[in-house]
Amino acid sequence: MQTPLMAIHHHLIAAIRQCLGQADWSPAESLVVPASRPEFGDFQSNIALTLAKPLGQKPRDLATAIVQQLPSDAPYEPPEVAGPGFINFRLQKTYVESWLKYQMQDPRCGVPQAAQPETVIVDFSSPNIAKEMHVGHLRSTIIGDCLARLFEFLGHRVLRLNHVGDWGTQFGMLIAYLQEVHPEFFTGQKEVDLGDLVTFYRQAKQRFDSDENFQNRARQMVVKLQAGDPELIAAWKFLCELSRREFQQIYDLLDVQLVERGESFYNPFLADVVAELKAKGLAVLDQGAWCVFVEGFTSPDGSPLPLIIQKSDGGYNYATTDLAALRYRVQQDGAQRIIYVTDIGQSQHFAQVFAVAQKAGWIPPGVQCIHVPFGLVLGEDGKKFRTRSGETVRLKDLLDEAIRRAQQDIETRFAAEQRQESPAYIQQLARAIGISAVKYADLSQNRLSNYVFSYDKMLALQGNTAPYMLYAYVRVQGIARKGGVDFTNLVPEFALTEPTEFTLAKHLIQFPDVIAQMAVDLLPNRLCQYLFELSQKFNQFYDQCPVLAAPEPDRTSRLGLAYLTAKILKLGLSLLGIPVVERM
Ligand code: ARG
Repeated sequence: MQTPLMAIHHHLIAAIRQCLGQADWSPAESLVVPASRPEFGDFQSNIALTLAKPLGQKPRDLATAIVQQLPSDAPYEPPEVAGPGFINFRLQKTYVESWLKYQMQDPRCGVPQAAQPETVIVDFSSPNIAKEMHVGHLRSTIIGDCLARLFEFLGHRVLRLNHVGDWGTQFGMLIAYLQEVHPEFFTGQKEVDLGDLVTFYRQAKQRFDSDENFQNRARQMVVKLQAGDPELIAAWKFLCELSRREFQQIYDLLDVQLVERGESFYNPFLADVVAELKAKGLAVLDQGAWCVFVEGFTSPDGSPLPLIIQKSDGGYNYATTDLAALRYRVQQDGAQRIIYVTDIGQSQHFAQVFAVAQKAGWIPPGVQCIHVPFGLVLGEDGKKFRTRSGETVRLKDLLDEAIRRAQQDIETRFAAEQRQESPAYIQQLARAIGISAVKYADLSQNRLSNYVFSYDKMLALQGNTAPYMLYAYVRVQGIARKGGVDFTNLVPEFALTEPTEFTLAKHLIQFPDVIAQMAVDLLPNRLCQYLFELSQKFNQFYDQCPVLAAPEPDRTSRLGLAYLTAKILKLGLSLLGIPVVERM
């Protein structure tokens, strides 16, 4: 079913075509938005203002003419022309009620499936083997998972790819160090426990930076490894396995699914990618390195900025792998949309990779490559997020700390409420709330801005936080328990009377539009904002309107509003990767 916003949008197009006498007139974007203030109605269009100027007409006159062309049997009251030429729409009550009914019985709460399912690749998380998985990777994991969930829900085929850095020069260094400190590892005589691989990496790096002989050995190792030396390949595999185990702990905690397809996967295609770029006349030799220059990219000094695809020593780099990956994803995976979730610092890299791939003809018409950038995570002091002693925070510790603090909050609250709950229940609840709080704190910010990581803020029961949202859901479940109502059997006739009911109802029916918008701009904070307002509007309604104690038909209608609120909260939160709890 068309959402009210879509219906108005289409009516406006038809009316404008009439007014302009142009049967093929089409707008670039939506002609209507939800009204900014309730006095302005429910939806507003300012299209008359945009169109009137070039036509030499007064916006108000054009707005009036457009309104006259709108159908008379529409689901809104006769629209008003306001101010300089806004068109204000107010939905009819019966229409709102019928939409609520539709959402109630639809498991998708009114969100349509994609008419044409696409193959969508989300490239996210992607930490580097043997190096630290840092907060940037945490952001990528949380945002990428959310976008993957969104596209899955819309009915697309989604490939969740973990493009781990498993083929860098760090391996030469690590293996050379391993040979020196743990030679028994290579003879297979003894199991070696490398403990924390990251500490090991730091030691190897120190050695690398301070000893030239070691550096040379490390470089030779890389060459041998890339040539496929079996002993080194075995060592490399072992190191990858160790890292993988570490990463998996984080993914398990976050409940995030990923398919690992690291940089090494594309190794067999690198030479061919370079050969193809040379054959197409795109690659040029510049100071011994093979480079591709595309217009519009300049270095800070103003000179053209190349994308280096093969270094003078013959080695390939990050960009070569990304070109190979892009080509593979389009040609072998059949991807129609490829979404890359990384920090904003890589924007230029992706812009260049996409531009080169475009020139090489690897992005056919209809295929979209999209970089989804995000800002930094800052500490409460506004500086880079670190531990008190100034070290980088281990992600596992960060998540454990969120859970620990959530548990503390829960125990304090339960003690105050004199509630007895089993330790197992408390632990499970703490884990759900702690992890949800971390995810929500990230997703609720516009991803382009930096955000300040604060356990206190993200765990607060008030404000735009996960606990607030979860609590609104729990509140609805409480109504059902108290009244012995089985929501799933509810077949309500809606009968809206009170203003807070109306406000809530109109917000509920906007859910599909919010999801559609999010699929376009890939901004999870839009959904968070919507859910936050939903919780607030529900709470206002529940403070004003008795539900269980109300006489019929209000009782059933209000139970319907409560149920639909819970249903949309649950669905919306699930798209953010946040599971609801029944009590808290
Ligand atoms: N491993 C990279 C990093 O840690 C991120 C990889 C992102 N994906 C890609 N296709 N380049 O920064």
